[in-house]
Amino acid sequence: MAGKKILLNELGLEQKRKGFVSKEKLKEIASKACVPESEAFSAATFYSFLSLEKRAKHSVLVCNCPSEQLKGSEKILGFLEKRLKVKRGNATKDKKFYLGETSCIGLCDKAPAMLVDGKPHAKVTIEKTKEILGKLK
Ligand code: FES
Repeated sequence: MAGKKILLNELGLEQKRKGFVSKEKLKEIASKACVPESEAFSAATFYSFLSLEKRAKHSVLVCNCPSEQLKGSEKILGFLEKRLKVKRGNATKDKKFYLGETSCIGLCDKAPAMLVDGKPHAKVTIEKTKEILGKLK
């Protein structure tokens, strides 16, 4: 269990530092967490906030679980698609933003929620989304 905790913690830290987890770093983290590389790979490809390649300078992931949809996540995603001129699951042409969906990020009671460059944002509105985007360079 400690290995899995170390694995996810280290993968998350690397994602935050570099914006992705390289194959070399994945091996290093697997070794540090004492788990097989295949397990590290599975984790890195399962969680939408982790990526094995640099998607874009900034990552915007909106939780779009059914309960979030009831609270307006689709409205936020639609706004982001229009504002960033990109469909979810893609990066903008200039590679400045990646827009995607994520499963639960532990903020269900504060929906709609999203992760921007790994930082959680709760009770997101269109106004709040504009503010968040405005602060990204
Ligand atoms: S379902 Fe969206 S944060 Fe939990």
